Amino acid sequence: MPDKKEEIEKEQDEEQIYTFIEGETIDLTPTNSNHIELYAKWSNSEEIRKYARNEMPRTIEDIKKRFEQRGGDGPKEHIGFEIWHKEDKKLIGLGGLNHIHWVNGTANLFMQIGEKDYWSHGIGTEAAKIIVDYGFKELNLHKIFAGVLSKNVGSWTCAEKVGFIQEATLKDEVYVDGEYIDVKKYYILKENWLHKNK
Ligand SMILES: CC(C)(COP(=O)(O)OP(=O)(O)OC[C@H]1O[C@@H](n2cnc3c(N)ncnc32)[C@H](O)[C@@H]1OP(=O)(O)O)[C@@H](O)C(=O)NCCC(=O)NCCS
Repeated sequence: MPDKKEEIEKEQDEEQIYTFIEGETIDLTPTNSNHIELYAKWSNSEEIRKYARNEMPRTIEDIKKRFEQRGGDGPKEHIGFEIWHKEDKKLIGLGGLNHIHWVNGTANLFMQIGEKDYWSHGIGTEAAKIIVDYGFKELNLHKIFAGVLSKNVGSWTCAEKVGFIQEATLKDEVYVDGEYIDVKKYYILKENWLHKNK
């Protein structure tokens, strides 16, 4: 009997993928309610959620509800994408902008490569670059920020490779695994980005 993962992968193979932004090794596509089970698997996985601060279990219903609340036309405060590996034709994560403030032109970058086998292959960095470029050049944002736990070395290495600048350290900001951890706050301005990525 095929397990759940095989079933999802089979469905993915048969599905039409609508690319929103094409990258080199990955494509960004709109999120898809058919994949909520996979999103739930990632959000509840101990290793994935540890530094992403999903301390509470997330049911399929929770995720569905959030998903529906974000629908509709008009300015959104959350724009999420699926991250597809082009060559493997596989859905491997999610990323996007949330806490978007259209007057201030600010937004937070979020990222989750849910399939661990794809970590440390430069995919988080590539996805972040695509999303930042989209935020500045298509949405006309002014400042994109990111908050990263100091212990999440992969995440802040990724932020620095994209060109994010550290602007603050929040001491003992979060409680993870029995200890208080600092949060590194990063930002990048549109002018910083355009200077290097015309
Ligand atoms: C954080 C995350 C998005 C990074 O994605 P990724 O595809 O692994 O990132 P990249 O490969 O582009 O870059 C990570 C860099 O950090 C390095 N790195 C990763 N883990 C590391 C560790 N524990 N110690 C030192 N360096 C590490 C990688 O080698 C790579 O650097 P390199 O290109 O110079 O080799 C991914 O690990 C993830 O989704 N984690 C779970 C969810 C999460 O924590 N999200 C972020 C919340 S702020």
